[in-house]
Formats: sequence, structure tokens, C-alpha cells
Amino acid sequence: MAVPVLDYLEARPPAGTPEVGTLICLHAFPLNARMWEPQLTLSTAGWRVIAPHFPGVQDNQDAEGSFAVAAAAVVDLCERLGVDAPAVCGLSMGGYLAFALVRRARGLVRALVLCDTRAEADTPQAREGRLTMLATLRERGVAAIAEEMIPRLLGDTTKQHRPAVAERVRSLALSNQRDGIAGVLTAMMTREDAVALLPTIGCPTLIIVGSEDVLTPPPMSEAMHRAIGGSELVIVERAGHLPNLEQPERFNAVLSRFLARVV
Ligand code: MLT
Repeated sequence: MAVPVLDYLEARPPAGTPEVGTLICLHAFPLNARMWEPQLTLSTAGWRVIAPHFPGVQDNQDAEGSFAVAAAAVVDLCERLGVDAPAVCGLSMGGYLAFALVRRARGLVRALVLCDTRAEADTPQAREGRLTMLATLRERGVAAIAEEMIPRLLGDTTKQHRPAVAERVRSLALSNQRDGIAGVLTAMMTREDAVALLPTIGCPTLIIVGSEDVLTPPPMSEAMHRAIGGSELVIVERAGHLPNLEQPERFNAVLSRFLARVV
């Protein structure tokens, strides 16, 4: 298996601010690492924030459509950057990758933040939906996927009051490579179920979900919270599936408080 070399965004603490740890942020579908731009400001509190792009979404690498390969690439990135015990924050598809990372390198992960994600693998019906989406992607490109997803990614409050967020999400999706997005769809439809992994997670874990999330509604996060001993659950009001973009101040406050606790 060839391990892809990940491209990433990074923000380091300003001069004079001691580094307290590293936060790795794993993005959602059909977006890329730039969805974490509002969280790069956590660097001012001493966090080295690193957000990799899923292989292939922003470059021409062959992603092989596998979370196991992507997780190996995250481990490789940590080795290259000298990161030894990061907190890992994954949102939705990023959560699937976080589970794959726990499977591959449990000892690496100092703390886990699972946002708007689910542990269950795709149902046969969900796989059918992915196949339809792959056909749409081949015929009409990433724009068609963005148009299909955006109404479900954002909460009602955002759709009614913050049109700029929808524009930002659209431009992130449109900047992605068609083959990379196809690779992510393949990874998602073939991913392993992570339900049995949940009770084995021993690191500090925060679960965040938007109150208006229709893709991974709050009861899914409540189930993960019950399954991961000692985990904390926070519901972000007036946010849908992307609370880090829809309510960035509230999201950052919740994340900062958790990170301060795990240092
Ligand atoms: C995401 O936001 O990453 C997607 O909703 C994940 C999925 O389609 O399962």
C-alpha cells in the first residue's frame, strides 16, 4: 500500500506563546481542510493546529478510496511534522477517519473530538445512495454534488440568516477534484462499522452536534456518548451539520474548554 503524502493547513502559536499541544482537524464531505479556517485561531491559545486534506480532494493523488490508507497518511504526516500525541477532531466524514486512526494508531491519539458523525457503517440503502452520487459526479461534476448536499449540510437558522456560510461551503466544495471526491465516496460506502470500537475508546472524548443537524441528528451523538465511557456531549444550538462554520464562536469556546482540560 502506497501511503499518500498529505497536503495540509497549519497555524502555529504566535511568537511568545508557548505551544501546549497539537490539534489535528479532519474535514467533512464534500469539503476540504479549509473548512477549519475559523478554528485556526485556536493557535493563539498555544495550539498547533494542523488540518490535512483527504488524499486526492485538492491534488491528483490516488486516494484509493480507503480510510485505512488515509489514516496511515495521517500517521505519516504526524511523523513528518514531529507530532507525537495530538488531539484529533473529526467532523462527519472526518469522524470516520478519526475512527480509522484510532484503529491504526490508538496510542497516538491524546484526545478525541467527534463532531456530527456516526459510528455505524453505511446501510445497503445508503450504499445505493452513494452509487447514485458517484454516477451524478461522473456526469455532472462536483457542482451537482454541492447543490445536492448544501441544503442538508446547513441548519435552518443558517439557511435563513447566514447566506454567506452557504456561499463559503459551496466554494469549498467547488474547489475540490472530481476524482478525490469519488475516492471519498468510495471510502465512505466501504467503511468499517465502528460501533464496537466506541466502548474501547479510553482517551478524553468530546462529542459535539448541531441541534439542527439532519444528516447525523443529535440522537446519534447521544448514542455515541452513552457508548464512550467518560465522554462529554455538547449540543450547539442554531447549527446544522457544520457547527464549526455555522456557530464558530460557540464551537471554538466548547473546543477550547475541552482542550484546556486535556492538556
Ligand atoms: C459529511 O458531512 O462528511 C457527510 O455527511 C458524511 C456522509 O455522507 O456519511
